[in-house]
Amino acid sequence: MNDKNKTKVGDNTRLAHIGNNPRAFYGFVNPPVVHASTVLFPDAETMASRNQKYTYGTRGTPTTDALAAAMNELEGAAGTIIVPSGLAAVTVPMLAFLSAGDHVLIVDSVYHPTRHFADTMLSRLGVEVTYYDPAVDAGIGALMQPNTKVVLTEAPGSGTFEMQDIPAIVEVAHRGGAIVMMDNTWATPLFFRPLDHGVDISIQAATKYPAGHSDILLGTVSANEACFERLLDTHGALGICAAPDDVYQVLRGLRTMGVRLERHQQSALALARWLEGQKGVARVLHPALESHPGHAIWKRDFSGASGLFSIVLDGGGQTQAHAFLDALKYFGLGYSWGGYESLAVHVQLNDRTIAHAPKEGPVMRLQIGLEDVEDLKADLAGALAAAAKA
Ligand SMILES: Cc1ncc(COP(=O)(O)O)c(C=O)c1O
Repeated sequence: MNDKNKTKVGDNTRLAHIGNNPRAFYGFVNPPVVHASTVLFPDAETMASRNQKYTYGTRGTPTTDALAAAMNELEGAAGTIIVPSGLAAVTVPMLAFLSAGDHVLIVDSVYHPTRHFADTMLSRLGVEVTYYDPAVDAGIGALMQPNTKVVLTEAPGSGTFEMQDIPAIVEVAHRGGAIVMMDNTWATPLFFRPLDHGVDISIQAATKYPAGHSDILLGTVSANEACFERLLDTHGALGICAAPDDVYQVLRGLRTMGVRLERHQQSALALARWLEGQKGVARVLHPALESHPGHAIWKRDFSGASGLFSIVLDGGGQTQAHAFLDALKYFGLGYSWGGYESLAVHVQLNDRTIAHAPKEGPVMRLQIGLEDVEDLKADLAGALAAAAKA
């Protein structure tokens, strides 16, 4: 595609054509899966100067380049690194931009393993960590310190789906000399493009919607021009590179991500609206619902919603939560998400210091898969009845 067409074509057209150049591989539609450690050089001088496109397996191959090019296009990024998990897509940029004596601001509704990394490894390395309210908006200014180097955002929040005013946070953080990172796994770059809103580094657990089939772990980190070199240097220094078959499977998954997401979106919204009217449900935490406190921000900044949201049961505790889960037939009990099948989990929120757990009852996170909505509805109705009886 030439630059002129880029802005005009639809998402699904882009997804069908990005990240490959058939003419570079004898016309084959897909790029090769290059398994590589050693790369040969034609002569000693080239070897000494490393003056050729590929030099070592950890530093990139035509397969990783294809996925990175696709992600650059989707994210509007200067460059993308590929790492072996979504969690590594959070930890590698943090290690790239934080040093001993620095301060990082992390949203309190963050994905729990990110908090664990901050509280253990970042603290051990001498980085000061402060958690902030997802509703902080421009109030983040009051928390900025002269040594604040990174503001980490994640919207909607893990398990509880709080929205964040990303442009307001970006403006204040940049004024204070910090860069902004965003874990944008929920929306994917199809429904929100962080870099277009001033974010410096966009994090994607490609394990979820890009892979889409619950069989791959992968992460991508996309950066703007100013941040990419440092990110790439750190990636090279750490040697945290991804396996070629997994990279290829994510590139394959991207081709259908648009149509899958459309279906996830429709089914999740239909079920979220239906759940709002059900006995036994105190609240539905889905930013595309008008009742959601972050709905105005979602509507202003996002162009869609994916298939993950939570419900708050109307009363009860662990017994009711477990009765709900154990009654489900089609929803599996599992932690990852973004695949073709529906899943449910009882969300644990004991780690929160500011964005506390809803008081009405247990929070159940639902990943709505590609099954037929009526079957999922019947399954959820049975689970609600079981929780009421418990
Ligand atoms: C928001 C978010 N970020 C990152 C991750 C980590 O992804 P992975 O499972 O590939 O490590 C997850 C996984 O659930 C997630 O929900």
